[in-house]
Amino acid sequence: MAFPIPPWLNQYRASANSFLSQYEPLILLITPLFSLLIARILQSIFLVIHERGLKATIISFVMSAIKLVPGVKKYIDSEKQKIVDKLQGSSNRDGWRTELPKTGLGDNVLVQMRDEKQKDVTWQGKCSGTVYIGGNENEGHFSLINEACSMFAHTNPLHLSVFPSVVRFEAEVVAMTAAILGSKEKASGGQICGNMTSGGTESILLAVKSSRDYMKAKKGITKPEMIIPVSAHSAYDKAAQYFKIKLWRVPVDKEFRADVKAIKRYINKNTIMIVGSAPGFPHGIIDPIEELGDLASSYQICFHVDLCLGGFVLPFARKLGYPVPPFDFTVQGVTSISVDVHKYGLAPKGTSVVLYRNREIRKV
Ligand SMILES: *Cc1c(COP(=O)(O)O)cnc(C)c1O
Ligand SMILES: *[C@@H]1O[C@H](CO)[C@@H](O)[C@H](O)[C@H]1NC(C)=O
Repeated sequence: MAFPIPPWLNQYRASANSFLSQYEPLILLITPLFSLLIARILQSIFLVIHERGLKATIISFVMSAIKLVPGVKKYIDSEKQKIVDKLQGSSNRDGWRTELPKTGLGDNVLVQMRDEKQKDVTWQGKCSGTVYIGGNENEGHFSLINEACSMFAHTNPLHLSVFPSVVRFEAEVVAMTAAILGSKEKASGGQICGNMTSGGTESILLAVKSSRDYMKAKKGITKPEMIIPVSAHSAYDKAAQYFKIKLWRVPVDKEFRADVKAIKRYINKNTIMIVGSAPGFPHGIIDPIEELGDLASSYQICFHVDLCLGGFVLPFARKLGYPVPPFDFTVQGVTSISVDVHKYGLAPKGTSVVLYRNREIRKV
């Protein structure tokens, strides 16, 4: 027997139905749009957390909230400006030339240069990261370099037929550098090649560009992405901008080493390369090059090892018996290396080497 429905309920139901039917299309339209919006907001919040870490996200959120308090942003900006003014004011630019002198300075040029040089800080090879020097300024290293530089100041390596000497020297520096970084070992594949450049930054730029073009040729990647530890050099930011590559900077682990698992999480079908340093310049810590090499091999992507600082130290440290884990072309997966002759190669500023595993990578 059916339960008798009281008439007031039927009435209520009818009016509710007519009320809803009036709004139904609108609700049907708005609800999904609204959920989409919420999902989008949540997604971007999670993306930011994923990218920067929870702590950094909260801090930046709190900071932007504080800046909303009236006056706070103005105060911070004015304090910032004070610091900028102080920094710029600290170099006294009185008397700096802004136009060509009416008459030439003649021999005075050298006199003036000497005067200015007096104002530079005396560092005597003890100012980290500035100038690298073997022993002491007066022990022959500088005079040797000075003589060599003046002998070749007026040459152009682009003209092989006019300056075969310079071209030969470049080839020799590249070959010798490759030889201490594994080119003679069977594991390297025996095809290491490279070039001299004007510095670590240029070596890195070239390696990144070659990797991008190699991955385009080999895997058809047209929206390239690169993953680097936060401890990597700023040259990768420049490379990413110049060569239109999306850059992921991944936090390092508790020991300040590249976090292989974290890097792996960012790899996708557009990834062209990963990067490790041995060591990185901020902490002097060596990244786990073998693990990164395995990761790169398993995804068939490029792997650049930044040996700008360590390339002329680690091979010799190992010879002296220090425990140095593999860091060069003997590691499978390493596709390119940058190494600065103007650091512990003790050459003057403006010389570096970029090396590639084989000609195919260099050619593109
Ligand atoms: C010095 C350095 C570079 C490049 O710097 P340059 O000044 O352009 O030579 C890149 N990576 C590391 C780890 C370095 O130490
Ligand atoms: C430098 O690169 C060019 C190609 O751009 C190559 O022909 C040359 O052999 C390279 N130099 C050395 C020393 O390998």
